[in-house]
Amino acid sequence: MTARRDEGAKRVPPVARLYRRPVGPHSGGMSILKIARMGHPVLRSPAAPVADPRAPEVRRLVADMIETLEDIAGAGLAAPQVHVPWRLVIFRVPAERTTGRPDDLAQELTVLVNPAIEPLPGPMELGWEGCLSVPGLRGAVPRPARIRYRGTAPAGTAIDREVEGFHARVVQHECDHLDGILYPQRMTDHRLLVFVEEWQRSPIDLAAFAAQ
Ligand code: NI
Repeated sequence: MTARRDEGAKRVPPVARLYRRPVGPHSGGMSILKIARMGHPVLRSPAAPVADPRAPEVRRLVADMIETLEDIAGAGLAAPQVHVPWRLVIFRVPAERTTGRPDDLAQELTVLVNPAIEPLPGPMELGWEGCLSVPGLRGAVPRPARIRYRGTAPAGTAIDREVEGFHARVVQHECDHLDGILYPQRMTDHRLLVFVEEWQRSPIDLAAFAAQ
């Protein structure tokens, strides 16, 4: 998921930055990974469970995904987006995106292997999302406002959290990638699928839109 809703000055990452850079001989071996875009088969198929979250190839993939996410200043990335059909996502919750609600706090980068999500009782919430695999666009997506999610960290420890707001949204968005689902498929009103550049010129207030 892309990181910014504060829009104004933010630009879409140049497409060239989404593609693998040459890795120098002394680079330490990490790579910026190429991002699969909407339509690629890897984004349309369910991903496979990770047999051993502590395996060296998982550690390598995670290091490359983190470097890729930092390079493009995103909020989250799922393994299928970098052409690896494994059930693994990484994400973080920047302080500026939190809603201020009790279970929506800033969250350092989390690596979640073999996640499972359970919606908790409560309303659906409409919020803006972008996706590195759908460059240039953003859409308003209804999702359960509160969820519980579980999974395994690469160290093998269990993760079990109840969250809401942006934290709940980014986890649902990233985990959808593991089931071959992109956010436009979750949208119920496609008038709210817009180009970021147009949105920046004339922002849409979701609350006002809902009241129409
Ligand atoms: Ni995405």
